[in-house]
Amino acid sequence: MNTFKADIEEIRRRAMEKMEDGAVTASYKADRERVIEVLNEVLATETVCTLRYKSHYYMAKGVHAPGIEEEFLEHAKEEQGHADRVAKRITELGGKPNLDPEGLATRSHAQYGTGETLLDMVREDLIAERIAIATYSEIIRWLGNDDPTTRRMMEELLATEEEHADDMASLLARIHQ
Ligand SMILES: [Fe+2]
Ligand SMILES: [Fe+2]
Repeated sequence: MNTFKADIEEIRRRAMEKMEDGAVTASYKADRERVIEVLNEVLATETVCTLRYKSHYYMAKGVHAPGIEEEFLEHAKEEQGHADRVAKRITELGGKPNLDPEGLATRSHAQYGTGETLLDMVREDLIAERIAIATYSEIIRWLGNDDPTTRRMMEELLATEEEHADDMASLLARIHQ
């Protein structure tokens, strides 16, 4: 049993704290700052997911898992693409993308992972994707119609995370055979 946490409710609660009062507040500036803060947590999540998939790619390569390693690599690239889009959106909103390695894991909704077997790795990825799906859905609801551009981006990210979760669920079934 590894120590990868699967307490999605707790992670969701933590992610929700910043959104409690809705996206619109009295001053536009305050609203924008909250969106930037939430997006910086998304940026941390995407960065941690990129690193986790990369490490899984190299580990799977070591155990000769053709097909599976390619899937990890493809996901790593897509998470990196997500991180780049989120960072760009943060700058568009006048914010500063926080890529400081210090505190990265704390800012992230999802965890890096410590799995060593292929099964553990795929399980970790599936948990991380489910966490991203849960928190991104909350963010989309929270944004509502107040920032359509950011919401559209989050909806596109969410669609990819759902595909990723699907891919990992299929891999899990394959490994179990
Ligand atoms: Fe992503
Ligand atoms: Fe993903």
